[in-house]
Amino acid sequence: MSRLFALSGKGGVGKTTLAGLFIRSLVEIGKKPVLAIDADPNSCLGDMLGVRVRSTIGSARETVRDESEAQKISKQELLRMKIAQSLAESSGFDLISMGRPEGPGCYCYANNVLKLAIKELSDQYPYVVLDNEAGLENLSRRIVQSVDALTLVSDASNAGMNTLGRLYGLAREMGVGFRKLVLIVNRTRGGELPESATRVQHDTGAQKIIALPYDEEIATLAEESRPVWEVSDGNRIYKKILELMREIG
Ligand SMILES: Nc1ncnc2c1ncn2[C@@H]1O[C@H](COP(=O)(O)OP(=O)(O)OP(=O)(O)O)[C@@H](O)[C@H]1O
Ligand SMILES: [Mg+2]
Repeated sequence: MSRLFALSGKGGVGKTTLAGLFIRSLVEIGKKPVLAIDADPNSCLGDMLGVRVRSTIGSARETVRDESEAQKISKQELLRMKIAQSLAESSGFDLISMGRPEGPGCYCYANNVLKLAIKELSDQYPYVVLDNEAGLENLSRRIVQSVDALTLVSDASNAGMNTLGRLYGLAREMGVGFRKLVLIVNRTRGGELPESATRVQHDTGAQKIIALPYDEEIATLAEESRPVWEVSDGNRIYKKILELMREIG
């Protein structure tokens, strides 16, 4: 059984950056190989990890639709092959990008293909990190079976903190299953938790809530279009994520 860590939150709060650091930390502490799943159609997890993505599950699905008639091979088999070819391999982790969930054709079919592909792939890895698009769409579509640790990311604003509570409520309402809940308040000014943190932790029953400061090195890497994977070993955000992964991984 693989352990799955999923990150969600509203747009631009740092989900993909933190997913990159989750993956680097897991690899660093020997919890590998990790399967990194980029579940955002406007994907950039590959960029954060310094890995080139050539094709996605979405594009594999579309080629299969067009090619399986021409080749004497079953759709399912061809799809497996194409998905395996879409896997980008790196040291300690592999990356798969989901691409667009819905294409032309039946939405349910597309969704089922995704689910099956993710399940088959995930079963081959002891650790899986899922970077989601903003919101809870992917989790509510049940593209993964069971999440071990759901990480909700927010900024420190009052609105951001309220969003955490709302996302938690939505996750419960939509029956998203998870064993542990972690809240991360990212890009805070002094690295301190806002006052409302205690209330939000209490309301959500989160096992853990941590604050991460605004970090110059991470901002510079992004400005220079360099992967967050390259962050220095002594970086304080990286060290905090390492600590978190040791604890929950
Ligand atoms: N702690 C931090 N300090 C400084 N910059 C940060 C920090 N965390 C994230 N960033 C920057 O914030 C920007 C948005 O981060 P990121 O792309 O990870 O957010 P996201 O939640 O994945 O966005 P989206 O919803 O578009 O997928 C990036 O430029 C990233 O480098
Ligand atoms: Mg993102």
